[in-house]
Amino acid sequence: MEVVIVPDAATAGELIADTIAALLRHTPDALLGVATGSTPLPVYQALAAKVRASALDVFRARICQLDEYVGLPAGHPESYRSVVLREVVAPLGIPESSFLGPDGNAPDIPAACAAYDSALAEAGGVDLQLLGIGTDGHIGFNEPCSSLASRTRIKTLTPQTRQDNARFFDTPDDVPHHVITQGIGTILDARHLVLLATGESKAEAAALAIEGPLSSLVPASALQLHPHATVILDDPAASKLKLSDYFRTTYASKPPWQGL
Ligand code: GLP
Repeated sequence: MEVVIVPDAATAGELIADTIAALLRHTPDALLGVATGSTPLPVYQALAAKVRASALDVFRARICQLDEYVGLPAGHPESYRSVVLREVVAPLGIPESSFLGPDGNAPDIPAACAAYDSALAEAGGVDLQLLGIGTDGHIGFNEPCSSLASRTRIKTLTPQTRQDNARFFDTPDDVPHHVITQGIGTILDARHLVLLATGESKAEAAALAIEGPLSSLVPASALQLHPHATVILDDPAASKLKLSDYFRTTYASKPPWQGL
């Protein structure tokens, strides 16, 4: 796992956007797994700026969802499909037909989950999966004690995650209890995992994921199993790392040609 500490969220957004741009130059039809929440927005803004400046051609890029609420009406503004369309697909000008996601309203949810795993595999697998982290250490919606080998499936949100996500809904009670999420095993199938954490509220979860033991109690610790995992933190999110000096020194002396 590579840990990169940057001064602020905007710098992190630029760094990840540069990484995605390099991937798309090499693989124009790369399948990009995107995350929702507030954290990745600087990445999407930096990518959109590149597109506007004609510094990046994303027309052949493909986008896929990490997770989805179950039971929100189709077109609900806070369904993750709507969020990804609004924050990523539309600003980048990617055709909606290049966007894959699970159906949170499917009559048969287990079948929809299996179909989504199959669709990702048939699409050739995810080239780069962008991840955030929950304050309880979740990735996607894999809450603590999710199997490290799990595939896409339905999960029940913890009270803490429902409370964390209540800001997106009119009232806390409107946050769905159930979600579909790529499993940890599904996420680990991506070729490159890039986890972004910003702000002091993520410092404890980030430290446990990076420096703690591999444990389903901290689902993000599963990145320790991946051969190409990059964790990018701003200074506040890195504030509880024991090895922060080592991570800073290592990244500062990294040859620029290596990228992330
Ligand atoms: C939700 C999403 C996660 C995201 C997390 C953190 O639970 N399912 O993918 O990482 O929120 O969100 P934020 O970045 O807003 O803190």
